Amino acid sequence: MKLLLEQGDIIKYAADTIVVSIFEGAKELVGVTSEIDKITGGLVANHIKDHDFDGRLAETLVLHSPAGLSSKHLIVVGLGKQEVFSFAAARRAAAASIREAKELKSQLLATVIQGGKASNLPIESATQATVEGILLGNYEFDRYKTIDRDKREKRKLKEVTIFEPDGTKLAAALAGFKKGKAIANSVLNTRDIVNEPPSKIKPSDLVKAANEIASLSGNITINILDEPKLKKEKYNAILAVASGSQELPFLIHLRYQPNNPKAAVAFVGKGVTFDSGGLGIKPWSAMLSMKTDMAGAGAVLGIFQALAELEAIDQPLAVEVHGIIPTVENMISGKAMRPDDIIETRSGKTIEVIHTDAEGRLILSDALTYANQLKPGYIIDYATLTGAAIKALGRNYSAIMGNDKQLIELVGQASQLTGEAAWSLPLPEEYKFYLESPVADLANVANASSAPDAIIGGLFLQEFVNNIPWVHIDIAGPSWKEDNKDPLSHQGATGYGVMLGIELLGRLIG
Ligand code: BES
Ligand code: ZN
Ligand code: ZN
Repeated sequence: MKLLLEQGDIIKYAADTIVVSIFEGAKELVGVTSEIDKITGGLVANHIKDHDFDGRLAETLVLHSPAGLSSKHLIVVGLGKQEVFSFAAARRAAAASIREAKELKSQLLATVIQGGKASNLPIESATQATVEGILLGNYEFDRYKTIDRDKREKRKLKEVTIFEPDGTKLAAALAGFKKGKAIANSVLNTRDIVNEPPSKIKPSDLVKAANEIASLSGNITINILDEPKLKKEKYNAILAVASGSQELPFLIHLRYQPNNPKAAVAFVGKGVTFDSGGLGIKPWSAMLSMKTDMAGAGAVLGIFQALAELEAIDQPLAVEVHGIIPTVENMISGKAMRPDDIIETRSGKTIEVIHTDAEGRLILSDALTYANQLKPGYIIDYATLTGAAIKALGRNYSAIMGNDKQLIELVGQASQLTGEAAWSLPLPEEYKFYLESPVADLANVANASSAPDAIIGGLFLQEFVNNIPWVHIDIAGPSWKEDNKDPLSHQGATGYGVMLGIELLGRLIG
């Protein structure tokens, strides 16, 4: 799909579908919506009067062959209440309009900038949000659908043109347009990587993906620890989890180093390319979707792609960023890690393996030790760590935990802006007893049915962070959508964490 930004009059453009928008409960129509209403003899206003349409956020009204307009369809999308309008709302509205356009099998679409007029959002942000909404809403993972491929391709949106009516703001709109494209492309690449089946994305394929991203910018370097190096340097937790698989493990270290960085941040992402549970094997129903157990790694890769793309459009972030991805496959064989095993981790601490299915925290323990050695100002980890996080918060929220109130606060603020919801859980000292082991320094899970497993995961990871502000983001829920209800995210991988990471970086140096 081609995406364009134009200055001019949307009404005169020969699109098959035009998208305009209104605020919920608006007393009067404004801007293009009001012009179109006049041309069409009050078509929009009448529907509002008849309560067919209230303008609730992401609600759509479709008018076919509107009188006086040359386009086949007019989509009016709701922006929600003006008082609570935000960047995330603009993006959601844009995504909803794209969903509707896809339903209508539109090919050539013209749209306003959502909230570009009559809102407090600067034009740059409104344009960025509109672009992100369009690209995220348009995404589908259909590369393996072969039946009727030609027909499907023909029906897809070919071109979307975003109109900026006021020529004086074109430069700002263009900056937002480019930024939105850079960020959304990065999210979509993450979705692609996470959506690929587990036989297509193995640890070595994550290495390949990381190399490709590293080649996007002269400021990104990459260091790969392969199995001999992991052995030599005693990354025994990564090695233990990988031992049951035919696939070799890696620790990937990406580094973004611009001139004069204002801070140094390390992102750590869980990269289990498939989680069978190991010898403590998962039942089929829980194993299904375990290709997504590398969504944390995917988010880190997406952040690096965005760093490179933002640099390419002259909007670089002045921050040194490390991306650390321990990647393995958690499988079974005669060589697999066993329950009762004791791992001597890279940090020196020993772990008793109670459950082979709590493998994420094992590989992350070594990866966090690696991150400590870099002495960054902040560590953020992304991990599909526990089913308990989904039970507690559902699919819309990640669970965030950490050792630094201010950093947790900043992650929360960034999450509100990007619309990637996050809710914080405590890390209480008094629950540490759950991780006591009679034979090692730590047990890898709490051997008690009462244990709050998402929190226990966080407490476990904390043991491997050396006095550095750190936040753990359990993304088991929001990294994956089970249905198509969210206009921004088709069923499957969401790319959760990419936008959040970029926004957080901006705030850490802002
Ligand atoms: N990868 C899973 C967690 C998960 C579950 C991610 C559902 C996405 C969707 C993780 O490795 C795991 O198996 N965790 C165990 C921990 C338990 C043994 C303490 C779990 O959640 O059951
Ligand atoms: Zn597991
Ligand atoms: Zn896992």
